[in-house]
Amino acid sequence: MEHIITIEGGAAFAVSTEEDSLLRGALRAGIGMPHECSVGGCGACRFDLVSGDMETLWAEAPGLSERDRKRGKRLACQSRPRGDCTIRIRCADEYTPAVAPRRGLARLEGRRQLTPDMSEFSLRTAWPAAFLPGQYALLYPPGTEGARAYSMSNLPNADGLWQFVIRRVSGGRGSNALFDRLGVGDEVAIDSPYGNACLRDTPAREIVRIAGGSGLAPMLSIARAALARPDAPPVRFFDGARTAADLCGESLLGDCPPPHRLSYTPVLSMPDASPGWRGAVGFVHEEVKRALPQPLDRYEFYFAGPPPMIDAVQTMLMHKHGVPFQQIHFDRFF
Ligand code: FES
Repeated sequence: MEHIITIEGGAAFAVSTEEDSLLRGALRAGIGMPHECSVGGCGACRFDLVSGDMETLWAEAPGLSERDRKRGKRLACQSRPRGDCTIRIRCADEYTPAVAPRRGLARLEGRRQLTPDMSEFSLRTAWPAAFLPGQYALLYPPGTEGARAYSMSNLPNADGLWQFVIRRVSGGRGSNALFDRLGVGDEVAIDSPYGNACLRDTPAREIVRIAGGSGLAPMLSIARAALARPDAPPVRFFDGARTAADLCGESLLGDCPPPHRLSYTPVLSMPDASPGWRGAVGFVHEEVKRALPQPLDRYEFYFAGPPPMIDAVQTMLMHKHGVPFQQIHFDRFF
């Protein structure tokens, strides 16, 4: 069953009520509805319901403040229409999906341990793995409610191979279900691709990737894609981790030709736990500022990681070094 959604002063589109939130229905229809995380965390998809009936999927989603709730705001990624509706939201071309998201089942082909709490999951679908480097998929871990967002770490391919670098989060039901309840040969629901922090066609500027924790996967995909372009400038990769045992970026990038175009800088935030470590220490954004030849507005920046890291990098680049927003690309991971 489908309901028709009309954007005040704009387009109308159909949403499948069995499967889709308002946001996913819009993106599947090629509408440029604002979004970042797709899972209720960022607030980018706030809208007003002008008329009609809309179910709220997660009432406490952190993407809405108390003030937003009092003003009647809703999240498109946490809303599902119960009938035809009219909404108010400002759409933009930059959010129009280059590849329309597709939902189905993927089979786990293999799992490779990378660090004590991170593994590479390789999934296979019956359709091509079509996405832009830096985008993410929604996976539905077995026995849990709702989806979790994980970025692809490989490159798009016609063989339907989707690879993810996933960290087991202490107390995180989604990641623990993937590690403990999804065996090789099992199927898991996948809905992909989403996200806007993709590799842009602007090879003239040197490219800087900054990864922290679970933000490693999209930075790997973007670095692999950039290094595959023969005419692209060098890539500088900063990999933030707690200890040396948590680092795996360099080995995963080892298959990228040609290695001389890649500089890799690991940065440890807990160096005391890694005896003998002689590399960079501290916050990864501090090392970026220290290690890169200035001025910083000569680079194109891509970064992914936990919200405090994203905020610190964004503040450092935009407010302290005047890097234009158009040269900054990021997604938040929760
Ligand atoms: Fe809806 Fe982030 S809260 S896209």
